[in-house]
Amino acid sequence: MLNKIGFAVLGLGHIGQKHCIHISENPEAALIATADINANLIFGHYKNEINIDNLLNYNQIDVVHICTPNGLHAQQAIQCLNAQKHVVIEKPLALSSKDCEAIQVASDKNNKFVFCVMQNRFSPPSQWLKNLILSKTLGNIFSIQINCFWNRDDRYYTPNHWHGTMSLDGGPLFTQFSHFIDLLYWVFGEININYAQFENFNHKQSTQFEDSGIVTFSINSGGVGSINYSTSVFDKNFESSISIIGENGTVKLGGQYMNEISYCHINNYEMPALEKSNPPNNYGNYQGSASNHPYVIQNIIETLNNKSKPHTQLSEGMAVVKIIEEIYKFRK
Ligand SMILES: NC(=O)c1ccc[n+]([C@@H]2O[C@H](COP(=O)([O-])OP(=O)(O)OC[C@H]3O[C@@H](n4cnc5c(N)ncnc54)[C@H](O)[C@@H]3O)[C@@H](O)[C@H]2O)c1
Repeated sequence: MLNKIGFAVLGLGHIGQKHCIHISENPEAALIATADINANLIFGHYKNEINIDNLLNYNQIDVVHICTPNGLHAQQAIQCLNAQKHVVIEKPLALSSKDCEAIQVASDKNNKFVFCVMQNRFSPPSQWLKNLILSKTLGNIFSIQINCFWNRDDRYYTPNHWHGTMSLDGGPLFTQFSHFIDLLYWVFGEININYAQFENFNHKQSTQFEDSGIVTFSINSGGVGSINYSTSVFDKNFESSISIIGENGTVKLGGQYMNEISYCHINNYEMPALEKSNPPNNYGNYQGSASNHPYVIQNIIETLNNKSKPHTQLSEGMAVVKIIEEIYKFRK
């Protein structure tokens, strides 16, 4: 008989439901309880506990997955850590470095893990790019361009929802594009933000922040780069891509989610065959990032069984929040 890890999911919206499904499908995991303030939301036969205090009464829970709006992550994670639970925090870890530090204090004090969710790291093109840069195959990196052009319109920013609010959402770099900032950080390390400029093109009635921005940055090894992002694209997502110009060649990851290799031309290099990427999460009117959450859950189980370490560590989730915070400091 397997000694299963006990899981709970807090927040049963779009992504919380997926966490429940993937936990239920893992033979080494047991979904013990779920909670959401919306009494109408349930998963399977589970009783919706409505509040976090009731959820934390279940002794069999080892890990709580925090799948609530961004601005709630820190306070809820700290409450779970103080109740002696490990936590999995959906991206972004929090909306400020100060909140990230408070999570770290609670994690250290209680000796409990914090797992960040950056599931795009598991996609074959991301892994290929990471290894390509690690192995210095491209030589010196001259220039990096990230383009993220998605659609989020009134089908997404509905009245009285957390989406679009400064306190719970925080802006597209936190909610839509933090996966791509994470990829940048994961592959290239520290990012120094030089300049950022923002515009709100077609969300003035629906969001408390801008929908678009242009950012310039430099990396420690000397290369420079830019991030050009927008959620103002008509009707559907257009692309998320990263182009890298190096001394020995040029590569581009493209598609809607940086999920395809669109270009690779490198001196004396043969492109290996990659495994197929998983499809994106589909939310009806819009699509999100890659559906790689089963790998996240497997990594948690292996870590808690002392066979691995967190795939995306707390310090890395914090670094991504810090980069976004540095960019948003240029807000007027
Ligand atoms: N990794 C990914 O690809 C990915 C994809 C989508 C969302 N997310 C992240 O997951 C989180 C949730 O996003 P979503 O799209 O599922 O949002 P959602 O609005 O669909 O779901 C959020 C849920 O949290 C519940 N909730 C709000 N306050 C609560 C509280 N105090 N206690 C308990 N439940 C509460 C809401 O009732 C709602 O059901 C966000 O942080 C988002 O950035 C990550």
